[in-house]
Amino acid sequence: MVDPQQDIAPYLEAAAQKAMRITHVFETHVQADHRSGARALGAATRAPVLFHESAPVRFPHVEVADEEEHELGNVRIAVLHTPGHTPESASLLVTDRTRALEPWFVLTGDTLFAGGVGRPDLLGAGHERALAEQLHASLFDRLLALPDHVEVFPAHFGGSACGKGLSGKPGSTIGFERRFNPALQLSAKADFLQFVLSDLPPQPPGFAENRRHNLAGE
Ligand SMILES: [Fe+2]
Repeated sequence: MVDPQQDIAPYLEAAAQKAMRITHVFETHVQADHRSGARALGAATRAPVLFHESAPVRFPHVEVADEEEHELGNVRIAVLHTPGHTPESASLLVTDRTRALEPWFVLTGDTLFAGGVGRPDLLGAGHERALAEQLHASLFDRLLALPDHVEVFPAHFGGSACGKGLSGKPGSTIGFERRFNPALQLSAKADFLQFVLSDLPPQPPGFAENRRHNLAGE
């Protein structure tokens, strides 16, 4: 399970219906737009909660490193540290070995969306420029290094305040975003920074409180 919401009952029901076991609870980053169900789901399933090692969470969890791989039967998950939306943001590159030995899709969390990229300003004033620079490297050096056919499944689509210009389409491909995502047309860092730091939607009330709650695992 990746990025569970606070109500974990649907995940437990879905797993039971398919006679599957939840073995890992990954968080792509410390969430601000919702209260996380990761700790509760981990407790209910005895699955570890996994965060990138730079995440400052204050409850028991497993730290994962860039390029670390986890085997889940026929599926392999590789961690890509893709900071920018937040310092600990990670993307998960998924290979289904019943199909191919190469990655099939990537879960990009709030780093890359269909039509948008993660906003770098949620940590507060003073951090956004450094985070935007990290976002540039994460997008152009890491995610766009993937082949065009790799599918992209972000954590949000249109309607979310975690980015601007998001499409209503919940999935995309690396190739489509490489060609048509407005932020990904701006490979020059100065242009990219100006784009991602301007016209940001207001930060909804509750984001800072959600983040505090999720850091503490309350
Ligand atoms: Fe987020």
